[in-house]
Amino acid sequence: MKHVLVTGGIGYIGSHTVVSLVEQGFHPVVVDDLRNSSPTILTAVGKLSNDLFTHISVDICDYKALKRVLSPFSLDAVIHFAAYKSVRESFDIPLHYYQNNLTGLMNVLELCQTFKIRKFVFSSSCTVYGSPNERQVFENTPKQLPESPYGFTKWMGEQILADFHRNPTPFQTICLRYFNPIGAHPSGLIGELSVGIPNNLVPYITQTAAGIRKHLTIFGNNYPTPDGTCIRDFIHVCDVADAHVSALKHVGTKPLEAFNIGTGKGTSVLDLVQTFMAVSGLDVPYRYGERRSGDVAEIFANVEKSKHELGWEAQRTLEQALRDAWNWEQRLQQHD
Ligand code: UD1
Repeated sequence: MKHVLVTGGIGYIGSHTVVSLVEQGFHPVVVDDLRNSSPTILTAVGKLSNDLFTHISVDICDYKALKRVLSPFSLDAVIHFAAYKSVRESFDIPLHYYQNNLTGLMNVLELCQTFKIRKFVFSSSCTVYGSPNERQVFENTPKQLPESPYGFTKWMGEQILADFHRNPTPFQTICLRYFNPIGAHPSGLIGELSVGIPNNLVPYITQTAAGIRKHLTIFGNNYPTPDGTCIRDFIHVCDVADAHVSALKHVGTKPLEAFNIGTGKGTSVLDLVQTFMAVSGLDVPYRYGERRSGDVAEIFANVEKSKHELGWEAQRTLEQALRDAWNWEQRLQQHD
């Protein structure tokens, strides 16, 4: 298996995955119209991968165009990242989220049928567990309705894949349920691009440390956790990228499977802020604010299935992830 279609391969997780794929001898065919990325990231991915990938700019919601540009390639598998991912924005423009994330997925599946591509890796999220009853979730923890339109697109994406499997064509899918990807490539050349005020915790912390934001607001300090702040499973984005390479090597043994992509360890928001201050040597002013609606108190992954069946586990520490996130933020400031 060599040629892999990677939709959204210049986005945050996609760009790190393209670099990992090339390192492992795959040839990614990247489809990304850069709407949530930039030519600079495209160039940087080229630099990190000796340009050993193909990039095509096309909107995956335009099925005819997608089919036309991909017909010259003989593709063995697909990793489907291309989707909108801001929880907050998804409340403001839900139709855009459903239209883009679901039409995109269905077009790519249609393409798999037409081109007889049999292997598929889907970017899912721990949001499919909703507000779970257990703190640590297993892949067979019952799914619950998510809190946001973004979350629903992931939940429905998994459902569409399950239904697609009822057709008799042999097709194998792995859904990777990401927990909280953070950090950046250690080179500082690629990382997460936040447009406007960041929603996510780590970009907000690095922007505060850089002086762009006055202070961080920690949303809630009265949760039933040891320090009162929420607990999440933060994982280095390069570990998430490597999980895709493992998934590609594994896909095919069962028709449809899900794997948790986390570290297996919960870290509180306050702990994370303090660890960031320790590794960067900087002060991050913070205040406590109201709880953010839709946040669950505590969720972290059980990763035994990923370890044993996928042969993958996170290798990098929280400290490394935060150091790389800060390195990336500093590079971004130099280029502005
Ligand atoms: C959300 C999504 C998840 C998605 C991830 C990355 C849900 C339930 N979760 O995770 O699917 O993959 O984003 O896009 O939809 N916090 C603060 N102050 C801030 C920002 C965040 O205290 O300024 C806290 C939050 O309250 C939360 C924690 O930090 O407790 C992590 O928040 P965030 O980075 O936004 O990720 P999640 O909401 O966990």
